[in-house]
Amino acid sequence: MNLEDKYNKLEELNKLAELSGGETRKEKQHAAGKKTARERVLLLLDPGTFTEIDKLMLHRNYDFGMEAHKIYGDGLISGYGKVNGRLVYVFAQDFTVFGGSLSRANADKIVKIQELALKMGAPLVGLNDSGGARIQEGVESLAGYADIFYNNVISSGVIPQISAILGPCAGGAVYSPALTDFIFMVNEKSHMFVTGPEVIKTVTHEDVTKEDLGGANTHNSKSGVAHFNGSDEEQTIMMIRELLSFIPSNNLEDPPVKPTIDSANRADEVLQDIVPADPNKPYDMHNIIQRVIDNKHFLEVQAQYAQNIIVGFARFGGKPVGIVANQPQNLAGVLDINSSTKAARFVRFCDAFNLPLVTFVDVPGFLPGTSQEFGGIIKHGAKLLYAFAEATVPKITLITRKAYGGAYDVMSSKHIGADVNFAYPTAEIAVMGPEGAINIIHHNKLDEEEKIKAVDEYREKFANPYKAASLGYIDEIINPRDTRKKIIDALDMTKNKRKSNPPKKHGNIPL
Ligand code: HXC
Repeated sequence: MNLEDKYNKLEELNKLAELSGGETRKEKQHAAGKKTARERVLLLLDPGTFTEIDKLMLHRNYDFGMEAHKIYGDGLISGYGKVNGRLVYVFAQDFTVFGGSLSRANADKIVKIQELALKMGAPLVGLNDSGGARIQEGVESLAGYADIFYNNVISSGVIPQISAILGPCAGGAVYSPALTDFIFMVNEKSHMFVTGPEVIKTVTHEDVTKEDLGGANTHNSKSGVAHFNGSDEEQTIMMIRELLSFIPSNNLEDPPVKPTIDSANRADEVLQDIVPADPNKPYDMHNIIQRVIDNKHFLEVQAQYAQNIIVGFARFGGKPVGIVANQPQNLAGVLDINSSTKAARFVRFCDAFNLPLVTFVDVPGFLPGTSQEFGGIIKHGAKLLYAFAEATVPKITLITRKAYGGAYDVMSSKHIGADVNFAYPTAEIAVMGPEGAINIIHHNKLDEEEKIKAVDEYREKFANPYKAASLGYIDEIINPRDTRKKIIDALDMTKNKRKSNPPKKHGNIPL
């Protein structure tokens, strides 16, 4: 073989690898409204930055006549590139090759990219579109999955791990995404389930469609398994780029700063009127969040799930933070099982990746009832308490209105380590709301007139922020118009915070 032939051979093999499962299967993928794995990777990364590795990897299976069916790359595209100029590792399952199913070789490629990402301290994005374990490879495929799961766990809290589900994702294939930090889905195009509709029909006799069982809507609003959903692949992949802009590359870095022209001193008169004078009137906590953060840019996480709590990313003075906020507009902002677990996981992500926590509190307490108690609200509520208490990042808390009972303690109170605690003059900080308190104190024996008087008295005496301020539990009572400046000042004051918990193998969060 002369020199030219050698170079031609390389070109030919590269072309074969790029052909993946062939034109017909690519067309089928496009006809289904899906992109190919290579198109997805190129969409995710900054133009011209993708370096592919293991492009010529082949499977090593000789059963079921598989030796006659070898495709370069073996159904997985992996490598690294840049997102907004920052290093990111990526793998994408190629549905046009054996349905993107996971072979041993295919798993080896993912494992290699996981190990590189961990060693170099950069995020890993997995673009999933797969029929699951490569049926022809049996236990080798299962072993491959387990190796991937293991690396997911070891990397957790060290590098951000992001999964996009861009097609089917069944069986063990859902567990790698479940171990990562964030899951993105595409409306009507992606599905996740442990067992599909046919198995369910046989075992439990339930009739359920693929979409109802494991579609983007189900996992974003009902199960809480997913964190984001896009209307199509482009939008979903752009959302991944946006998320990456808020988070550091690893646990030893600070989040990336994005300079802003939004003034740190900007006062906002509209804020004076957002919390209603009537404590029983709902309002949308988003209105407060949007008006105080940089450029109203809020990336909400799990926006459709447990809407009585809001979590997401924003910036103050260019610096990213995690926001946790009760939502009085939904179930009065009460803490229940779903909102507690949603917020707890988010708080732990922020703490792992050096994102200060800014908490907005308007919470009437924990949701009473047998379904909550039987469902374990005690242990689930404790998750949020645990997460806030163990978090060592700067913690700034603002009570806008209600902070009652145990929920006051839980929502990043001074007592569990918040650094700066603000309250609006509209804040009500007490063991419980005035009506409940008067009923208990007077054993429900007051007539209507006496009750109104007693409730007013209680509200005057306890349902305000001044008692807590007199005890030092609230550092400052602020005018709503000054919220942005006060939070930015507090974040600046706490930016060099040094705090660590006692050395231990790990804590024992109530799971
Ligand atoms: C090998 C597979 C495959 C698999 C699909 N293909 N899944 N090959 N192993 N797991 C191949 C098909 O044979 C077909 O090849 C091509 O991929 C496209 O598949 P289609 O069925 O034509 O596509 P579609 O109609 O879109 O259906 C997609 C699908 C379906 C829903 C994913 O293929 C499917 O149900 N596959 C099996 C899913 C499954 O049970 N996987 C095992 C899960 S258990 P040709 O050559 O015809 O194009 C598991 C255990 C892991 O994952 C445990 C880890 C702990």
